[in-house]
Amino acid sequence: MNNAHNWKTAWVTGASQGIGRALASALCQKGVHVYASARRGEALDELVHELERMPGTLTPCPLDVTDQGAIEGYFKQWEGQNALPDLIILNAGTHDPFTAQEFSAERVEALMRTNLIGTLRSLDPSLKYCLKRGQGQIAIMASVAGYRGLPTAAAYGASKAALINLAEALKLDLAGTHVDLRLINPGFVRTPLTDKNEFTMPALIEPEQAAEWILKGLTSNRFEISFPARFTSVLKLLRCLPYAWYFPLVRKLTA
Ligand SMILES: NC(=O)c1ccc[n+]([C@@H]2O[C@H](COP(=O)([O-])OP(=O)(O)OC[C@H]3O[C@@H](n4cnc5c(N)ncnc54)[C@H](OP(=O)(O)O)[C@@H]3O)[C@@H](O)[C@H]2O)c1
Repeated sequence: MNNAHNWKTAWVTGASQGIGRALASALCQKGVHVYASARRGEALDELVHELERMPGTLTPCPLDVTDQGAIEGYFKQWEGQNALPDLIILNAGTHDPFTAQEFSAERVEALMRTNLIGTLRSLDPSLKYCLKRGQGQIAIMASVAGYRGLPTAAAYGASKAALINLAEALKLDLAGTHVDLRLINPGFVRTPLTDKNEFTMPALIEPEQAAEWILKGLTSNRFEISFPARFTSVLKLLRCLPYAWYFPLVRKLTA
């Protein structure tokens, strides 16, 4: 069942800035009641003021996505209010680029805690409540950086590759249920996360544009929502190349 066209309530993680903030605003603009989560409650409160005149409303639900108890607490509250989210966008994430010389297990673990463990702990109650209700749409934010290895993205790429595989497997396992699982793989979007990049980012887009394409994708039947199309098509082609071609080509493209 595709219930994407009649969202009443949505939960967006990582909503204090960047893509998540743009998604929360765009949903509010469409009249949706948004539960907005991130660690910085004050940034979410600012967003409430900013969106005061929108058709929808925004409720700040500050939390750390690695705190499953806190997430489950919100789900219980929403269930008690008969206002469970119809749309869940697990967007919270971080980036920590480093070279091989700077590699440290500690840094990789810290990134995995947010990008992978945080998504798993958000997904666990999301899936349980959606399966119990027999409805709901869940979108997992990964990245085209998860398609194949890219320079300085060993930790980030590995976390996103894990999410892509997880989403593919769950999509198969959810067949026959009314839970609609989606995968979001953006290219470069201008946010505080990509402000860390010291290279010129090809096909860079604004977060508002990303939010528009994500919401449009969620109303389609496509499992994977990837954009911008021209850039992500190149990466999809690179994904198919044998290593003997892939490594020299990527070195050349990223030199
Ligand atoms: N920007 C891009 O080019 C791009 C491309 C592909 C995929 N993505 C993915 O899109 C997502 C959003 O990226 P972005 O560029 O918008 O990043 P961003 O500007 O850095 O925003 C990240 C958001 O995640 C929240 N967050 C981080 N750690 C958290 C935690 N432990 N618990 C709760 N919230 C947490 C942050 O809020 P607090 O600090 O307040 O907690 C913030 O709201 C990420 O998953 C990213 O990997 C981004």
